[in-house]
Amino acid sequence: MDRQPDYMGHFTYRNGEMYAEEVPLSALAAQYGTPLYVYSRTAMRRQFERLKQSLDTIRPLLCYSVKANSNGAVLRTFAELGAGFDVVSGGELYRVRAAGIPADKVVFAGVGKREEEIEYALKEGILFFTVESESEVRQIARTAQRIGACARLAFRVNPGVDPKTHTYITTGKKENKFGLDAERARRACAEAASLSNVEVVGLHLHIGSQILDPAPYGEALCQILPLVEEWRNRHSTFRWLDIGGGLGIQYRLTEGSMNTACYAETVVPLLRQTGMSIVLEPGRYLVGNAGVLLCRVAVVKQSHHKTFLIADAGMNDLIRPALYGAHHEVCPVRQVAERLFGDLVGPICESGDFLAKERELPAVGEGELLAVMSAGAYGFSMSSTYNSRPRAAEVMVEGNRHQGIRERETWADLVRGERAWA
Ligand code: LLP
Repeated sequence: MDRQPDYMGHFTYRNGEMYAEEVPLSALAAQYGTPLYVYSRTAMRRQFERLKQSLDTIRPLLCYSVKANSNGAVLRTFAELGAGFDVVSGGELYRVRAAGIPADKVVFAGVGKREEEIEYALKEGILFFTVESESEVRQIARTAQRIGACARLAFRVNPGVDPKTHTYITTGKKENKFGLDAERARRACAEAASLSNVEVVGLHLHIGSQILDPAPYGEALCQILPLVEEWRNRHSTFRWLDIGGGLGIQYRLTEGSMNTACYAETVVPLLRQTGMSIVLEPGRYLVGNAGVLLCRVAVVKQSHHKTFLIADAGMNDLIRPALYGAHHEVCPVRQVAERLFGDLVGPICESGDFLAKERELPAVGEGELLAVMSAGAYGFSMSSTYNSRPRAAEVMVEGNRHQGIRERETWADLVRGERAWA
């Protein structure tokens, strides 16, 4: 039998019908409505364990990157497995805390942290902040001093490598806003060491996202190893090397996910020689293939050279195709043999409102369900209410159990918080 593509993972066909683990997607659509994000808890756990095992010789702290999918049920799934968390805002830290997870394994990144976010993170006692500018070091030091705390800092260094991914999700090249080049990082670090209320505890790297080739990780590490050595000798508190996330997943049949064994082969020897404690910040790798966006075809419309399948999900639910030209496989929930050529689009008033463009698609009719695959990462978390469309519901499946983990928003939610002009 052919190996099942990674993006199918725990979504499989039985008797011509797609299941999430043991549960037919059609049953979930009937109970929770569409559009609906459906996640496989087993798939998430499996990805976590797979990555952990590949790296077991260095026993890294795997900090799940909350931005990929920030639902509390997802966060708790990883917390149970011993994960830490990578957050980029006070809101993400709040979500972690609201899920009942302690802050001591949380790392806080981001180029523009606000004072109230810094204060909140200090009070919660996070593991460290990653810092990306000299001015941020001073801001954090001031806040720490004001509230009588000590802030642990890891400096984000921009290694100037090209991870060969989409330009919007490349972060470690010279022209990106992220990180400090080695020379500036040295200066910022020296300044930090002279300040009270801050401690230099680490170095941070994150070169980009959806990376399928381990080589750029090796390149980036080689770039920063001398600095690690230097700081290790200089600062007794320096012990964390955070190598970021970015491990890619399978979106198309013609590509594979990052092979974690190859990734480990590339990075482990380099990491071991540093003697540092290692942090990773995977997001997409842990959740991307563990979720689908389930939608229903509302209208089938023929145009002169193609067919439009107009679904009840649109760019507000899943913006990746519109924003990055990202490819997501589209599978029928009830298998059909025929294919058609056309677009899967949403009901939004924008020509960019597509989930799949000018492709072979399953020839389904009105009222049929489609699963947009690999939508577990940066799907719901990037969704909006554009065109005043309430955000979709989310459901978690494990084995034959399923549970709504976020209610569908209502029209009343859309106007909540608005005030009439008086
Ligand atoms: N750490 C840092 C500092 C990051 O900026 C990111 C992602 C991650 C970790 C997690 O990266 P991952 O392992 O998920 O690749 N919205 C885009 C992806 C943006 C990624 C932003 N930073 C997309 O839908 O492809």
